[in-house]
Amino acid sequence: MPLLVTPALPPGSLAAQEQPHLRVRPGLALRPWRDEDAPVVRAAFDCPTIQRWHVRRLDSDDEARAWTAQWAVHWRAETAVSWAIVEDDDRPVGQTGLRDVLLSEGSAQVSYWLLPDARGRGLATEALGALTLWSFTQAGLHRLELNHSTANAASCRVATRGGFAVEGVARQSMRHADGWHDMHQHARLRTDGPICSAGLRPADETRGQVG
Ligand SMILES: CC(C)(COP(=O)(O)OP(=O)(O)OC[C@H]1O[C@@H](n2cnc3c(N)ncnc32)[C@H](O)[C@@H]1OP(=O)(O)O)[C@@H](O)C(=O)NCCC(=O)NCCS
Repeated sequence: MPLLVTPALPPGSLAAQEQPHLRVRPGLALRPWRDEDAPVVRAAFDCPTIQRWHVRRLDSDDEARAWTAQWAVHWRAETAVSWAIVEDDDRPVGQTGLRDVLLSEGSAQVSYWLLPDARGRGLATEALGALTLWSFTQAGLHRLELNHSTANAASCRVATRGGFAVEGVARQSMRHADGWHDMHQHARLRTDGPICSAGLRPADETRGQVG
């Protein structure tokens, strides 16, 4: 049965290029994951809060290496993308990226976490701003969704400060270790206007790309 709508983005839109390095601001950047980041990833998934909201743990260094290696595969398959959030020393302090990338609909789901020591400085909001800017101006996506448990107040603040409007509550739509959680659905459209997060002002729209 022929489709009556053309894909929002053609296949190959992402995979035709290498995953870029994104500059957030001086001293903060997003870069692709590397094998040697595995110990940091293992430490992240030892954090009870990350385990709680991302519903996974890592049990070995091999699993951590598999975690870092998967992103090159997902990039080529155009299904997901993840960046390490790094400060001046290039050591990851967190991750942000997109899951459930659907080029045909021009949409994706946002994900982020920070290691405990990196929290409390607004880094997730800044990283989300750079991710959003890249998604709309470079990747050509149309809609980004951001879902978090209604019990995750910090994530709600990050979403709100990142300009992701609340669209509603999906009742008991996700299971966590302690049972079903209502999920707050936020979304941002490319047409929602300039990115005004804590880290990016409208005049900064040329930033966020280093290549
Ligand atoms: C969510 C997360 C990335 C935010 O990290 P961060 O950028 O350091 O966030 P901050 O500490 O700057 O806090 C952001 C806002 O949330 C508020 N906040 C932080 N912890 C909070 C809590 N436990 N309850 C209520 N508000 C909280 C802060 O006061 C701040 O509010 P403001 O915007 O009004 O200043 C981080 O907490 C984290 O990695 N959590 C575990 C993983 C996770 O939850 N991922 C998201 C899954 S959807």
